[in-house]
Amino acid sequence: MLYLYSPDQPALYLRLFKDALPDWNVACWPDEVDADAVTHVAAWKPPAGFFRRFPKLEVVFVLGAGVDKFLQRDDLGEQVKIVRLADAGMAQQMTEYCLYGVLHYQRQMDVYLRQQHAGQWRPQPARSAKDVRVSILGPGQLGMQVAQNLAKMGYRVAGWSRQPRQLDGVDCVHGDAGLRSLLPATDVLFCVLPATPETRHLLDGVRLAWLPKDGAIINAGRGSLIDQDALLDHLDRGRLRFVLLDVFAEEPLGEGHPLWRHPRVLITPHVAADTVPAEAVGQIAANLRVFAKGLPVTGLVDRRRGY
Ligand code: NAP
Ligand code: GLV
Repeated sequence: MLYLYSPDQPALYLRLFKDALPDWNVACWPDEVDADAVTHVAAWKPPAGFFRRFPKLEVVFVLGAGVDKFLQRDDLGEQVKIVRLADAGMAQQMTEYCLYGVLHYQRQMDVYLRQQHAGQWRPQPARSAKDVRVSILGPGQLGMQVAQNLAKMGYRVAGWSRQPRQLDGVDCVHGDAGLRSLLPATDVLFCVLPATPETRHLLDGVRLAWLPKDGAIINAGRGSLIDQDALLDHLDRGRLRFVLLDVFAEEPLGEGHPLWRHPRVLITPHVAADTVPAEAVGQIAANLRVFAKGLPVTGLVDRRRGY
């Protein structure tokens, strides 16, 4: 039996799962079910202790890409496989989000906004895509497509990953040395890394200082990546021209937090790439068929790696 926990659009998800899995018994929280019969759960942000009642649980399908919150739970034993969404319609949204931020910077919209508020008419020098260096931290399922789409549009794109990678049109680097050489050669840093112990505060005061003074950061991965105090300190000292943040150390961002009103910061409320229900359910149904054949599934999480 597959049990579904999705406070957002539960009726839609239930219908999609029933259509996609006609041979499965599918039910949706808060309907009461025989907990012993539940072998699979599909969920996003289930409450603490939610999984404890299912002794025969085998697989949890995460209705999102990031699994940090699932790996921090104490009600999911090591024997339970965790499978997250791999793209499933989110890479296109990430490309759009990144492109918006890149254009905001490239076409100097941040400067024009400030000038508008001051009533100033001051044309700025034009800058073409081939002169903008966009570096992607995390060219995985989402970042890889962002990188390749921007490269096709003429941007100078680089990617930084844990393992060496090869991507057409993208200059790929990895490891500490790769990051050290990449940051000073970056105009726009697009971050789409998972939250893991290794990525926590990866962008601290020291590494932020490696970016050019008039550079930009777009963070659409997880808020733990950036030391927010160090970022504010940087911005206050006039370093970094523009920062677009979708994710934060604490969400929602606290009322009165200095980032809200910082003139160089644009904030969105964790919306860079939403789960697309039909794509998500299609991918989970395909994965269930792959599991049944004993083959490797897309999006199986490596708990040791943390993503
Ligand atoms: P993914 O396919 O697992 O890709 C993760 C990428 O990060 C890989 O390239 C990986 O390198 C790299 N990476 C991980 N740890 C690293 C480290 N310590 N050093 C260097 N590179 C590292 O994940 P995805 O599906 O693209 O999603 C990425 C993240 O985006 C999610 O985990 C989630 O947090 C976030 N997200 C945010 C939103 C939003 O709306 N804001 C929506 C969806 C997802 P390797 O290639 O070497 O493994
Ligand atoms: C959203 O943040 C996701 O990880 O899918």
